[in-house]
Amino acid sequence: MKSVMACQGISKSYGAGDILERVLKRVDLELFEGQASVLVGPSGSGKTTLLSILGCLLAPSEGQLLIADQTVNFSDKSSLTEVRRKKLGFIFQHAQLLPFLTIEENLAIVGRNAGMEDMDIKQRLDGLLQRLELKVMRYKYPAQLSGGQRQRVAIARALLHRPSIVLADEPTAALDWNTGKTVVELLLEQARLEKAVLVVVTHDTRMLPLFDRILTIADGLLSEQRQTAAVENTFYTQP
Ligand SMILES: Nc1ncnc2c1ncn2[C@@H]1O[C@H](COP(=O)(O)OP(=O)(O)OP(=O)(O)O)[C@@H](O)[C@H]1O
Ligand SMILES: [Mg+2]
Repeated sequence: MKSVMACQGISKSYGAGDILERVLKRVDLELFEGQASVLVGPSGSGKTTLLSILGCLLAPSEGQLLIADQTVNFSDKSSLTEVRRKKLGFIFQHAQLLPFLTIEENLAIVGRNAGMEDMDIKQRLDGLLQRLELKVMRYKYPAQLSGGQRQRVAIARALLHRPSIVLADEPTAALDWNTGKTVVELLLEQARLEKAVLVVVTHDTRMLPLFDRILTIADGLLSEQRQTAAVENTFYTQP
């Protein structure tokens, strides 16, 4: 399997001196092509912090992040922007679409930022709108869509430029269970189709069986659960 991203001894602290909070402690992690991981842990355990480091939005205090075997240089802002625009796709709790642009325009911007040709953007847009059943939404504005439809657009936007890594921070937190499950299933299906690495943060343990890998953060340490064990556990924690 092809390694797409790796964390080597990544630590992250906030604050300084006596009020230093060590959120991540020497995290090692390797993520492979086409692999979907779910990241869980208590509130405040560092999930968003780790996802922000993976997304090149936040520099680690110690350790290295590698993308396609290359060390990310967190002090070089222009190369960070380049990596984010070309290699990464993001999905947040709320879709965060630009309200004054149509769905089509919201998607096209990502392609332009990644340096794609207009014809390529158009073909990609057509394909993703079709696959995510969003064709009728094309010329609508975000405010005209439901929460679930907006998250489907967020999936299309995260994938449009063919990123090798897609990161999602609680993408279903604002949705009801059925809509949220459908959104996650679509995200998994589309990311696998594109062979992208997918990392999804969620509080909902019912989602765990859908993923290839289950990563847990607690007390700053990252650990991995066996998928079968996790499935048994979720049986007891289901509401
Ligand atoms: N910019 C910051 N400055 C200082 N402390 C921060 C900052 N961001 C996060 N923290 C602290 O780091 C810890 C981890 O925060 P983080 O947001 O990564 O947790 P989380 O696991 O995503 O939590 P939640 O499930 O509530 O979203 C928390 O104690 C938080 O207060
Ligand atoms: Mg968080």
